[in-house]
Amino acid sequence: MSESTGPRPALDLEAFPPSFAWGTATSAYQIEGAVAEDGRAPSIWDTFSRVPGAIDNGDHGDTACDHYHRWREDIALMKELGTDTYRLSVAWPRVVPGGDGPVNKAGLDFYDRLVDGLLDAGITPSVTLYHWDLPQALQDRGGWTVRETAEHLAAYTTAVAERLGDRVTRWATLNEPLCSGWIGHLEGRMAPGLTDLTAAVRASYHLLLGHGLATRALRAAAPGARIGLVTNHSTVAPASDRPEDLAAAARMDGHTNRWWLDPVYGRGFPTDMRELYGVELPEKPGDAELIAAPLDWHGLNYYFPVTVADDPEGPVPHAREVRLPDVPRSGMDWQIDAGGLEALLLRLTEDYGVRELYVTENGSAFPDAVGPDGAVHDPERTAYLEEHLAACARAVRKGVPLAGYYAWSLLDNFEWAYGYDKRFGLVHVDYATQKRTVKTSGRRYADVIRAHREATAG
Ligand code: IFM
Repeated sequence: MSESTGPRPALDLEAFPPSFAWGTATSAYQIEGAVAEDGRAPSIWDTFSRVPGAIDNGDHGDTACDHYHRWREDIALMKELGTDTYRLSVAWPRVVPGGDGPVNKAGLDFYDRLVDGLLDAGITPSVTLYHWDLPQALQDRGGWTVRETAEHLAAYTTAVAERLGDRVTRWATLNEPLCSGWIGHLEGRMAPGLTDLTAAVRASYHLLLGHGLATRALRAAAPGARIGLVTNHSTVAPASDRPEDLAAAARMDGHTNRWWLDPVYGRGFPTDMRELYGVELPEKPGDAELIAAPLDWHGLNYYFPVTVADDPEGPVPHAREVRLPDVPRSGMDWQIDAGGLEALLLRLTEDYGVRELYVTENGSAFPDAVGPDGAVHDPERTAYLEEHLAACARAVRKGVPLAGYYAWSLLDNFEWAYGYDKRFGLVHVDYATQKRTVKTSGRRYADVIRAHREATAG
């Protein structure tokens, strides 16, 4: 790299084991583009992004970062950063365009080429099967509110694993089911854009059931697979020590954290939340065991903490987010608090007994621009990265079995309802020309990776 930020001794890199995996992450709809190529059918995001007012600036993923055609250039960027691993997602509507039924060979061919390209570059692929792009054909039949969708996820998983399982070992079933379940079905801010508690609770159940069925399908189709689930969490603090606010924080913790972890780690869906939602779960015998199938690793996506106050008249979970004054915030207006990452890593280890952990996403959006010198200087993102890596190091020193860290994101990309204005990349993308420029934060990440290798070289 031409510009070096230089090693900064404050980062305790020796805390990380020599085998620590340094990566970047993306997802299919956010970067691929080529939405109508080689047999891909629409997903719920193609549909949702056409709903007037749903996405800032009327943006959509039709072209995105054109990664479908520029993947070789993007692998070269990963090489330039020196990363060991890359977390990508497979687009279900490319592989099984109808949601169930015939497999589209041309769709699988793309991921086959991508995986080979990564391996040739010495980069380990980490493949997520579902990062929110449900085939629209399945949404038309009820989407995640019906059990069949979970079964179709397993069949699609088998098709992908049979094709890639000889070369891919690190697999995740779902990315952030909370967003699909709550934001997509309860808050309406993501596809499919519903605001219906019954639909949301049923969707959350079928997403976790789909995770269990996909795990079973992966074990059968790719015996060497190391399988995980990727969930996003926040630490939750009460706005005051009033009993009402303490209770609100417990409810928000149930909604954001326990609902998505307890069933996966064998505790079942939390009783207090079942009562609060008041929606009967579509349970069948054997489901609980499927959902709690043993995993090889867990992926934590962490961005921000939340503070809440009691809000009896507000929507479930009757806990209103309180905006703290005078705290650092990212361009998403999210509070920046690296301590939350450390706390959640410890909770997954100590409370849920996770034995292998990855930070599968962590990063920040700021309004970057290419400067007159042709560079993108992003000191705030660099500081965010350093603070969160320091939090990881502290967690490892306290015994967290952290095996890797994936920065979100490799590239600026389609940030869902926020469109292209919110830039999370370590690499800037000029969407008019598709020119990529490694930001200063990307160079800092490369320096950290190199320094870690030097510090731990046997
Ligand atoms: O861009 C998203 C990603 O798709 C899922 N996790 C959070 C990121 C930033 O909002």
